[in-house]
Amino acid sequence: MQLCVSLDNATQEENLALAQTLQGFDIWLKVGFRSFIRDGKEFLEKLKAINPNFKIFLDLKLYDIPNTMADAAVEICKLPIDMFNVHASAGKDAMTTVMKRIENIPHRPLVIAVTALTSFDNETFTYIYNEDIKTKATKFAKDTFEAGMDGVVCSAFESLDIKNSTSKKFITLCPGIRPFGEDAADQKRVADLNLAHEQQVDFIVVGRPIYKATDSKKVVKRILDNI
Ligand code: C5P
Repeated sequence: MQLCVSLDNATQEENLALAQTLQGFDIWLKVGFRSFIRDGKEFLEKLKAINPNFKIFLDLKLYDIPNTMADAAVEICKLPIDMFNVHASAGKDAMTTVMKRIENIPHRPLVIAVTALTSFDNETFTYIYNEDIKTKATKFAKDTFEAGMDGVVCSAFESLDIKNSTSKKFITLCPGIRPFGEDAADQKRVADLNLAHEQQVDFIVVGRPIYKATDSKKVVKRILDNI
């Protein structure tokens, strides 16, 4: 299991300071909409300059028509990143088109698809997708697998089912992790490290419990010691 730290601070300076603090650790960093829209490619380059071994997950959750998604994916592959994502609800056709367009790019980043946001409870999810989370997340995961993608973003509660219905090697990356039972905030389906272990999660994504902590380094060390 690997740790992916969300760089969701309000400013680039704070995100860079957090990366500096964590530069000695073997971790992934997650860059989302806000900082990428504001700070762009230069921010990614600055993170790699702090530690070239930092792996970067660009969390832009592409959702559009197949050709537009594939065009964007080709551009994303030119960035200094190691993983990016799309929405599985964009459809299998869109995901297949993305993978076909980038399959021959040397050292292409990993590509994963969001099944269900961890901020959804079952009622809200069913209102949108007309099926309960567990059933639909597994269907989305199968589509993602068949489209040739590397894995999915899902809640820790669905990880094992998804692996059993696709492949053990199919990556599960799980946000909504509160390693030691910290405050859930807006996340509805949170899991701790024990559940993540049981569910054979490949990547845990942790944001607020790390970047809002008074000693972020200590929290990361404690998480790494326990995974
Ligand atoms: O602070 P917290 O640990 O809740 O942060 C979770 C991070 O993971 C946020 O950056 C959020 O955008 C992201 N994320 C998520 N659920 C998904 C996909 C991404 O919470 N399904």
